Amino acid sequence: MSKVTVVGAGNVGATCAENVARMDICNEVVMVDIKENFAEGKALDQWETSPVNYFDTRITGSTNDYSKTAGSDVVVITSGIPRRPGMSRDDLISTNAGIVKSVTENVIAHSPDCVIIVVSNPLDVMTYQAYLTAQFPSNKVMGMAGILDTARYRSFLAMELNVSPKDIQAVLMGGHGDTMVPLPRYTTVAGIPVTEMLSMERINAIVERTKKGGGEIVNLLGISGWYAPGASAAQMVEAILKDSKRIFPCCAYLTGQYGVNDLYLGVPVKLGKSGIEEIIELQLNDEEMAMLHDSAEAVRNTVSVLSKL
Ligand code: NAI
Ligand code: 2OP
Repeated sequence: MSKVTVVGAGNVGATCAENVARMDICNEVVMVDIKENFAEGKALDQWETSPVNYFDTRITGSTNDYSKTAGSDVVVITSGIPRRPGMSRDDLISTNAGIVKSVTENVIAHSPDCVIIVVSNPLDVMTYQAYLTAQFPSNKVMGMAGILDTARYRSFLAMELNVSPKDIQAVLMGGHGDTMVPLPRYTTVAGIPVTEMLSMERINAIVERTKKGGGEIVNLLGISGWYAPGASAAQMVEAILKDSKRIFPCCAYLTGQYGVNDLYLGVPVKLGKSGIEEIIELQLNDEEMAMLHDSAEAVRNTVSVLSKL
């Protein structure tokens, strides 16, 4: 029996829950939201797709009743307020830190052995908040951002090259913000280095678009996106439940890797049943390492806001 909880049945949470259910990789998905009947309504609507979309995973919802989440293997935390035009991810910090703290307390009271995936923004800081609150080993608390940011990067490259996005592999590191570090040197198209297929000028333009990818959606919709974020969080859930050892960029707690200590930051990791099973250390060149350290510094500055709250 395996069970997944998604806290926050809003745009990202509900999309994640639906993706997980459609993968048919667990027995049960529970959504929890603070808004009366919201999670129940979304869960029922999703469950009613099961005969059409052909899955067995039971989806239920609850208004703040965490006893329904008991014994979850993986918990995805998406509760919080999203970005609106003119807001940076960091503007969300004080509201979302309070929400993530109280939600994490409720989650661990009923699922002491779960793996936690944080999605709420500002991502790297909220993941740190969940880690501080849960007091779990750091391999069991991680954040989702890198899969989304690389998905944007890969989808833009696929458009540019007119190739299948399936053939584009890429690594991206750093914080989930404008300082993120896409790595063209580690980007391939069916094994061919992207640098052999595109000029550096076009690659750099795509890197810049990727860094602002979240904002591009906010400007179009007036609110942040959910299809790609929800699908990306579901991909992490899948790798953990299936113990598949897939390698993804995820927000992980660093203890000296890449010269960074006591900070959650995006790095390539191996995901399996126990969460983050390995942090992979790439041989970054000086320029890449400098960009990563700039990004780490930006995240550290935002983390310092946590201690002042
Ligand atoms: P949303 O507003 O659609 O959903 C958030 C849900 O959280 C709402 O339904 C709200 O009622 C619920 N909520 C608030 N406080 C709660 C509490 N204490 N307990 C349970 N539920 C609570 O927002 P959306 O678009 O789903 O975004 C959610 C979060 O994810 C935001 O912080 C957003 O910035 C972040 N995000 C992060 C991404 C990433 O790559 N890490 C990508 C996209 C969004
Ligand atoms: C995104 O990247 C806003 O973090 C959110 O879409």
